[in-house]
Amino acid sequence: MKAMLASLPPGAPHIPQPIPITLDPPEHTKYRQPLQKVFSPKTISALRDSIRELAGDLIKAIKPDGRCEFMSAVAEPLPVQVFLKMLGLPLDRLPEYRAIVKEHMEAIDGDREGSMRRLQTIAAAMRDTLLDRRDNPRDDIISMLWKLEIDGQPTTLADMENYGVLLFIAGLDTVMNGMGLAMRGLAVDTDLQRKLRAEPKLIAEAAEEMLRRYTFTVPMRVVKRPVELSGAKMMPGDMVKLFLPAADLDAKEFPQPDVYDLDRENNVHIAFGVGPHRCLGSHLARVELQVLYEEMLARMPEFRLDPDHPPVFHGGHVIGIESMHLVWDV
Ligand code: HEM
Repeated sequence: MKAMLASLPPGAPHIPQPIPITLDPPEHTKYRQPLQKVFSPKTISALRDSIRELAGDLIKAIKPDGRCEFMSAVAEPLPVQVFLKMLGLPLDRLPEYRAIVKEHMEAIDGDREGSMRRLQTIAAAMRDTLLDRRDNPRDDIISMLWKLEIDGQPTTLADMENYGVLLFIAGLDTVMNGMGLAMRGLAVDTDLQRKLRAEPKLIAEAAEEMLRRYTFTVPMRVVKRPVELSGAKMMPGDMVKLFLPAADLDAKEFPQPDVYDLDRENNVHIAFGVGPHRCLGSHLARVELQVLYEEMLARMPEFRLDPDHPPVFHGGHVIGIESMHLVWDV
């Protein structure tokens, strides 16, 4: 990526570089640090009530129907609306933003030039809001990022696009897939639903086991020096996929890993990654997931998969669900 960017002629359109995820320390630390506060446990817990209110409204809207397509009815609008508000992007453009991010995630493999073009599309979709917040700051993440100084230099539009593309991708396409996978887990396990309805204080723990059992992100790394791992030779410049779901289904760490087990002794999973790039949005994601389970279980009767419309899954860097029809008695 760096080499390709360096070879661009002067004045060529900016190709956003998702930061901080594409940087190594110490550069990485400089760009990650300003984001810590907006995603800190304290900032995020202040959002809990508004997340609960939105979850409640979305669930109330579907309950009388006895059925729903869960991804479009709840799993997409809940975390995506929360995140657009945090970032400061207009809610009425949600369908457009989701379409762009979906296209990016579906096409991400291999074709680096295509990926750069799609990152430019994401930046272009955000640009009018980015520029507006430079001139008219509000109480949102975009306005906060404009006020930063990194190495004593004021933030530029290129910096904003770099931050923006990663936040856009991370915020608009992760939690919804986690919600889909976990709600499927609950829909096929009515004993678990009963247990959690009877003892809602178990939900926080249950949410962690859901994250382990259905770990769904597959980050990338670039190989720095020649290495051989379990017979696979890797050379500098090779791209490697870190298949985190396999780590969280490792029987050496988690006995009977494919069993969802609420009483598991060790549940130190790596659904949010490990090391310097560990997920910045993990507190937000946890609150959203827990609130969703609490509200679904408190407000809805037993729900099941619709046998006539089985869920449709997708693979990729964020594994998830395209559509999932749930039914319940009314
Ligand atoms: C359940 C939902 C989520 C999961 C499972 C998840 C997972 C991950 C993982 C595995 C990484 C590490 C990637 C790597 O090592 O290359 C990561 C990084 C990151 N995540 Fe999340 N994520 C989730 C939600 C979010 C949300 C809602 C945000 C909010 C914007 C977010 C923002 C980020 C950012 C900014 C990074 C890069 C951190 C860095 O490079 O220092 N994530 N996420």
